[in-house]
Parts: sequence; C-alpha cells; structure tokens
Amino acid sequence: MELNIAVLGGDGIGPEVTKQAIKILQSVEETFGHQFHFTEALVGAAAIEETGNPLPDKTLELCKASHAILFGSIGDPKFDDDPNAKVRPEQGLLQLRKSLSLYSNIRPVKVFPTLIEKSPLKKKVISGTDFVIYRELTGGIYFGEKKVNAEQTRASDLCAYTEEEISRISHMAFKAAKGRRKKLTLVDKANVLESSKLWRRVVKKISASYPDVNLEFMFVEVATVQLILNPRQFDVILTGNLFGDILSDQGGVIGGSIGLLPSSSVGDDHALFEPVHGSFPQSKGKDIANPIASILSTAMLLDHFGLDEESRAVVIAVLKAMKKEIVTPDLDLSSKYSTNDVGDFIAAQVRDSEEHLTLNRENIWLGKSTII
Ligand code: NAD
Ligand code: IPM
Ligand code: MN
Repeated sequence: MELNIAVLGGDGIGPEVTKQAIKILQSVEETFGHQFHFTEALVGAAAIEETGNPLPDKTLELCKASHAILFGSIGDPKFDDDPNAKVRPEQGLLQLRKSLSLYSNIRPVKVFPTLIEKSPLKKKVISGTDFVIYRELTGGIYFGEKKVNAEQTRASDLCAYTEEEISRISHMAFKAAKGRRKKLTLVDKANVLESSKLWRRVVKKISASYPDVNLEFMFVEVATVQLILNPRQFDVILTGNLFGDILSDQGGVIGGSIGLLPSSSVGDDHALFEPVHGSFPQSKGKDIANPIASILSTAMLLDHFGLDEESRAVVIAVLKAMKKEIVTPDLDLSSKYSTNDVGDFIAAQVRDSEEHLTLNRENIWLGKSTII
C-alpha cells in the first residue's frame, strides 16, 4: 500500500515521540513491503514562532492532501502562563480538527498485563480493563460562541450540539460496541444541561437500530468514580468533547501512565493519529518521554487502512518491550532506557516479524481488532 502521511511533530516532546512513530512505520514499510511517504509541517507554538499562525495554510493544505496525519503534541508554557495571549498553540490543533471535520476521537484504554504493577490502582480492580472512549471532537463547549466583556469581568463559552453532530459519532460508537462486548455507556450531565438531554434523546432513538447493544446512561461525576472503582464494567463510552477530554486523561492513570494512551481522530474524509497526552514541556529534549502512545497510534493508523497484520506486529512489538522492561522512566524510575532506545527496540521487533507471528496470540491486546 502507498500512503502519504503528513507529520506534525509540534511542540515539547511531540517531535521526539513522533520520531519514534515514524521509525516504527518505516520498519513496517520494509517488513511488509509498503510505501509510506512522510512530509513534515509546522503546527502549534513552533508554527507561531515562524509564521505567527498555529496552523499555517501550507500545513492545512498538506493535511488535506494526505491520506493520514501523524500528530505529536502542541503547547508551550510561554502560552499556558499567559491567559491574555491572542494566538495560542492549541488553536492550531482545534482548527485542524474542525477544518478536516475529525468529529470522532477514539481513545482506547487497556491494561497491559505486564505493566499491571505500575498502576497506582489495585491489581484486582484494574485487571482485564478494556474500554474505548468515543469522544465527540468538533462540537460542544470547545467550539460554541465565546464572549468576554470589555472590562474582562465576565466570560462565557456556549455548549451547543445538534442532532446531526450527536448522531454521526453515535453510529460509530454503536458499531464499535457491536463488534466488542455490546455495551455502550453514554456519559453526560443530563440532570442539568439541555445539550446533554439532547444527547440522551438522540442516542436512545439510535439505539433502536442496535438492539443487541446494551445502552446505559451515566452522569459524568459518577463516571469519574466508576472509572477508578470498577473500570472493567466499561466497554464503549460515548461522550461529548469536554467530558471525553477529562475522562481519557483519567483513563491514563488506570494503565500506569498517560504515556501509553494512543488515539485516532476520524471523520468522513480524513484521519489523524496522536497520543492522548500533551507536550510535557518539562521533559522536552531529555529523551525520557514515553513514545508508546505515539507508537500505538501508528497501530491505529495501520488498522484504519485495513493493515491488520501490520498493526498486530506493532502491538506485539510493544508488548515485547514491556515484557523485557524496556520502558521509559514514567513506568520504571530506575530505567536506563531512553525514548530513542524504546523506539529502536520496538522497530527491531517489528522487523523480526516472523517471531512475532508465532508469539502468544492470547494477549488481551490481540482481540478481533488489534486496538479498538
Ligand atoms: P501533558 O499531557 O503534557 O503532561 C501531564 C503529565 O503527564 C506530565 O507531567 C507527565 O507526568 C505525564 N506525561 C505526559 N506525556 C508523557 C509521556 N509521553 N511520557 C511520560 N509521561 C508523560 O499535560 P499538561 O502538562 O497539562 O500540558 C502541557 C502542554 O500540552 C499544555 O500546553 C497543554 O495545552 C498541551 N496539551 C496538548 C495536547 C495535545 O497536543 N493533544 C494534549 C494535552 C495537553
Ligand atoms: C487533547 C488536548 C486538547 C483538547 C487541547 C490541547 C486543545 O487536551 O487532545 O486531549 O483539549 O482536546
Ligand atoms: Mn486532553
């Protein structure tokens, strides 16, 4: 297969972890005989510095013309500490999601058996956790009308959803649930918010077309508790933009590090793959950031294009790194392995794919679909 991939490394650790992801895709290319063409472009604080714009036209055009986008992370303390900044790195990512209509953000959360001791939560609580968050990504409070009065003493962000916006991601989430454990939990705040009540009405109506999927509703504050008390109960979580952002970071705690969580953001015409975490500026340039979230995002990319075996090879290579404890310091404080070392090891394992394919296929990461 021939794929044009736009690479937007961004800020902080973004370029470092994205470099490892490219390494992995190159090893897939060689091993399985594909052609992936990578083209880099500016985004975020790096783009503001060079062009004044967090999403330069050239970057957007490249993304539109590519089959897929590999995204690192954006954000810089210079902007985080300045609430008056007119232009912010995050606007680059938000504009990209909106311009390409990447309305469905898919964030799988699984507990790796070999890393189970790394979680701050009890083994018996988290063992077997395997759920996926479907987060609406181009609507809600992120994109509603924003206002600040002249005196800067009052500000508001409108949370608006249309039936159409809810419906298109809901169908994706129900289809995913059908291929999994057939349970869908809609997380909202329907006891207070009109927009959440609309979500319940629309999702309930849609559920009639998926009679084998068990639909459950949960208020967001209950979900934050249940994720920690009993994460195994969840299969597919469907939710709006803001709640999805918050719950997915919380999901990172369950498995031991947010540095393990990949994601895909898909619409009808485009697809972007990025880690759930941010630019972790404190570790920029130190070669200590965990590249696995980024690497597993490439497995989601391969999966998206129907390259199942390739995706599986990447996941198995990641599992092998974990089993041999070739991990970064977020998972093992005494680790002597760097971001680069972990990337090199995983890339070498992908190349050694014959061995992979005979490895234990029983692992929970190797279900019907590799990642989701
Ligand atoms: P963050 O995700 O960058 O970091 C939070 C903490 O998570 C870190 O202190 C670290 O302990 C851990 N962490 C994150 N990624 C890791 C990795 N790969 N390996 C090991 N540990 C990791 O969140 P933050 O500190 O709140 O935000 C920093 C900047 O990133 C902000 O400017 C924010 O706006 C931005 N951000 C960007 C994205 C994105 O690009 N998608 C996502 C979240 C935050
Ligand atoms: C994420 C990030 C973004 C979000 C920020 C950087 C705009 O936190 O991808 O989870 O809030 O969606
Ligand atoms: Mn986030």
